[in-house]
Amino acid sequence: MDFKTLIAPKDGLCTVAADALLLVIAGKVLPDGLDAPLAQALKAAVDAGDLSLKAGQALYLHHVAGVKAARVAVAVAADGQATAWRKALAAGLGLLKGGGAQHVAVAASGLGTLGDAHAEALASVADAQTYVYRHTKPSAPPASKLARFSLVCDKADAALLESGFKRGRAIAAGVALARENANRPGNHCTPSHLASEAKALAKSHGLKVQVLDRKDVEKLGMGAFLAVAQASKQPLKFIVLRWNGAAKSAPPVVLVGKGITFDTGGISLKPAPEMDEMKFDMGGAASVLGTLRAVAELKLKLNVVGLIPACENMPGGAAVKPGDVVTSLSGQTIEILNTDAEGRLVLCDALTYAERFKPAAVIDIATLTGACVIALGHHRSGLFSSSDALAAELLAAGERGADLAWRMPLDEAYDEALKSNFADMGNVGGRAGGSITAAKFLQRYTAKFDWAHLDIAGTAWTSGQAKGGTGRPVPLLTHFLLARAG
Ligand code: BES
Ligand code: MN
Ligand code: ZN
Repeated sequence: MDFKTLIAPKDGLCTVAADALLLVIAGKVLPDGLDAPLAQALKAAVDAGDLSLKAGQALYLHHVAGVKAARVAVAVAADGQATAWRKALAAGLGLLKGGGAQHVAVAASGLGTLGDAHAEALASVADAQTYVYRHTKPSAPPASKLARFSLVCDKADAALLESGFKRGRAIAAGVALARENANRPGNHCTPSHLASEAKALAKSHGLKVQVLDRKDVEKLGMGAFLAVAQASKQPLKFIVLRWNGAAKSAPPVVLVGKGITFDTGGISLKPAPEMDEMKFDMGGAASVLGTLRAVAELKLKLNVVGLIPACENMPGGAAVKPGDVVTSLSGQTIEILNTDAEGRLVLCDALTYAERFKPAAVIDIATLTGACVIALGHHRSGLFSSSDALAAELLAAGERGADLAWRMPLDEAYDEALKSNFADMGNVGGRAGGSITAAKFLQRYTAKFDWAHLDIAGTAWTSGQAKGGTGRPVPLLTHFLLARAG
């Protein structure tokens, strides 16, 4: 998809040569300054009761007399803020995406001056709205014809908006990669598939990649990761991706993504309803791939490492059993009381592995707990961090990327729940505060660096009719790294 700025023509929006004009307006009355044909058409629509000036409302008009673009869509925004702009764009593009228009001119009226955040939002909304999953569904509806977007602006603002498009395109590409991998079924998106995706990304985008197999992982001593993988016929993979955008000596940010390509629960088997959604249990891994794609497309002057422990969590004769004790890479022993709390087991060994990079910060991303969905629902990801500064950076990045998180506590008192009579810790802490005790478990492996954990169980995918990966938290992570790169 192509995004460009278009300097507002002197003789008005009516003369813009595009297949469609998407006009975003704000305010309780129609904005001043629209050229007469548009002003007239909008007034008539309002008078007839076909358009109400309420946020989220949108109307399609065909062949408006005096307007060059054959299609006009009007969308109402609450105000000029990026969030309202996003909602209005989604409503307006929803009217156009199924039609014949290829080239859309997007203009704002009554919103104040557009900034880079508006341009970024247009790129990400347009991409998200037109994505179609077809890998295992060749009969999926044809992709939208929408291919070109021109954002109408003043000459003085064009350079700033172009910088927003650059960011928006990169983030959209990262989100698309994350969504596509998350959507692929468990029998297609295996640990080996994730490894080949990582290799393909490395090749196309100039990253370094290394894939460790079972033997390597055994030699290292990743006993927790191995325990989760041991009943699966799919070979485990431990993926290491590196983007070297800064001096060799600059400490990297390490992203660790949970890569459970299917979570049956193991011997602590999950109930049948919605178990199919556990193909999305590699959403953290998908977001690491997506973020690295965005980072590489933006050529960020920063070192970033992506770590993905990937395997299936299966029951079977060879499966790890409740009560089994394993030794993690850190040397700490774990009593596996519930084999369905497997995410923390693969992550703890990856966190210890991260130590070798002497990282500036380590962020793990995981569809870790159902309890986080109960706590925060599907709008905000759970953010846990032992560093107030790092937490603040991530929350702010979420605001900029319209990919929100909410900080959760890590009080020492929650750690009690992990006590075990037979090992250094158990892998579960009971139902109460389940997302927090999971984070407390991970925290035991992070003494050597600044660390944050994003529980994306409620945000990585949508259930129901619109079932599918969201690509979150690629926008949050990319904005965090953009800010770190300066
Ligand atoms: N992948 C799940 C978490 C999950 C469940 C995410 C539902 C999204 C929706 C994770 O591996 C898991 O099973 N967690 C358990 C932990 C429990 C056994 C302590 C959970 O949340 O029930
Ligand atoms: Mn599980
Ligand atoms: Zn899981």
